[in-house]
Amino acid sequence: MNRIHIVSNRLPVSINVENEKIELIPSVGGLATGMRSVYKEYNGKWIGWPGLPSDDIDEKLSNNIDRELEKEDCVSVHLSKEEIDLYYDGFSNRTIWPLFHYFAQYIDYDPELWEAFVHVNQKFADKALETLEEGDTIWIHDYQLLLVPEMIKSKKPGVTVGFFLHIPFPSFEVFRILPWRKELIQGMLGADLIGFHTYDYQRHFFSSVRRLMGYEISFNQIQIEDRVIIVDAFPMGIDYDKFKNAATDIFQKPLQEKSELHRELEKYFLLSPDRKLILSIDRLDYSKGIPNRLEAFAKFLESYPEFVGKVTLIMLAVPSRGTVEHYINLKKEVDELVGKVNGQFGNINYTPVWYFYRSMPFENLIELYSSCDVALVTPVRDGMNLVAKEYVASRTNRTGVIILSEMAGVAKEMGEALMINPNNTNEIAESIQHALNMPLDEQRERMIFLQDRIKRYDVFKWASEFVKSLAKVEKIQSSFY
Ligand code: UDP
Ligand code: G6P
Repeated sequence: MNRIHIVSNRLPVSINVENEKIELIPSVGGLATGMRSVYKEYNGKWIGWPGLPSDDIDEKLSNNIDRELEKEDCVSVHLSKEEIDLYYDGFSNRTIWPLFHYFAQYIDYDPELWEAFVHVNQKFADKALETLEEGDTIWIHDYQLLLVPEMIKSKKPGVTVGFFLHIPFPSFEVFRILPWRKELIQGMLGADLIGFHTYDYQRHFFSSVRRLMGYEISFNQIQIEDRVIIVDAFPMGIDYDKFKNAATDIFQKPLQEKSELHRELEKYFLLSPDRKLILSIDRLDYSKGIPNRLEAFAKFLESYPEFVGKVTLIMLAVPSRGTVEHYINLKKEVDELVGKVNGQFGNINYTPVWYFYRSMPFENLIELYSSCDVALVTPVRDGMNLVAKEYVASRTNRTGVIILSEMAGVAKEMGEALMINPNNTNEIAESIQHALNMPLDEQRERMIFLQDRIKRYDVFKWASEFVKSLAKVEKIQSSFY
């Protein structure tokens, strides 16, 4: 099989340097956690940013970083502080991210950010072109690199290029707001295969292609001069067995080998058998609906006081994009809301919300997934949401209930979850009550269907379907030459 190189803004590991010592930390987010399980199968390199500014590192350290990353088959694209500010914090996360998640009021339209976006996308494309050898394929990921497909195609038309978007593609009426809308579409159309998580995102994309560019679309193909581009939905899965096996293992560990968190969780249930835990895990991002979730939890405690003292919400919020204004404001808002709920309903023996503002190692995530009775997943917009799938995979005893926002891509695959509108805090509060009272038989009935589906379409299947389609489009393309 041909080598397939991955290109994404963030590498699967981020670099931390302390006293010249290089530490590799697993990156957080669906793209990194999902692709990490599959990329080695394709024998290529993973080209991306190691997560720190290049200004503070001298040549020797930079070479050492590159060598460490090389051991993981990663190739680094180094970015300066200014590039990070204008391209990453800037056009990627202050312009495209809010636009594609329907937060139009947050969009920054500064042309300087756009120029930096073009410049840095070219840097990634150049690195990919340097890495490519005859017959290799390129698979580009996500919104930070929307221009890279075209930048590669225009230099090497013979290379097969795939592109996958990990976030929603918005409706045309929202997308058209952006001054650089045509340039973004043009950039994506450099790919031979374009993948989205859901059919809805695919439809929105087609509508923009048709109305902005006037290209002909038939079924799932776009015809441009002497090229065909295939566009399809590939709902991303998780490494199901990794979660299932880890969840099975943690219950078999002797007490002395259990983590502190696990022991605390067990103690919580020992104090009273009718205690329950609700779990939420996300990056601290305004698209995740965290304030709504806290307000709904407070409403629930207010409406059902019999649960006060018996139900705790464990909220893990992973620090993310902490230099962008709207993320800083959200942090303040969440801190205040957690304080408010704990102040209103807590007492000396009871803290309603256990709030962790950090990332946790995989083992702790598994302990949380497998110990909590309910997963509360309430994004106002989310491309997919892998956390919901990870919760399902970790429920080895097949109990547990998911309360799920209809605005997450994953909702299309999880009809058995309790579906909510994330802006309806009354509905969320009622669903919490419903979930906590759901009989075990019903929980199992729903969970069996969910597990079956999520296991069948795991991340390996997802990647292999994408790669199969790439091979198909390569064949169609070659008939044109
Ligand atoms: N995650 C992690 N460490 C943490 C918390 C979460 O690695 O401390 C992972 C989690 O397991 C999941 C990913 O981050 O795989 C989040 O992906 P999701 O699709 O839910 O949301 P995204 O962050 O991509 O918007
Ligand atoms: C989402 C995006 C990814 C991104 C991740 C973490 O999952 O789709 O592209 O890597 O969030 O965000 P960060 O800005 O830390 O890379």
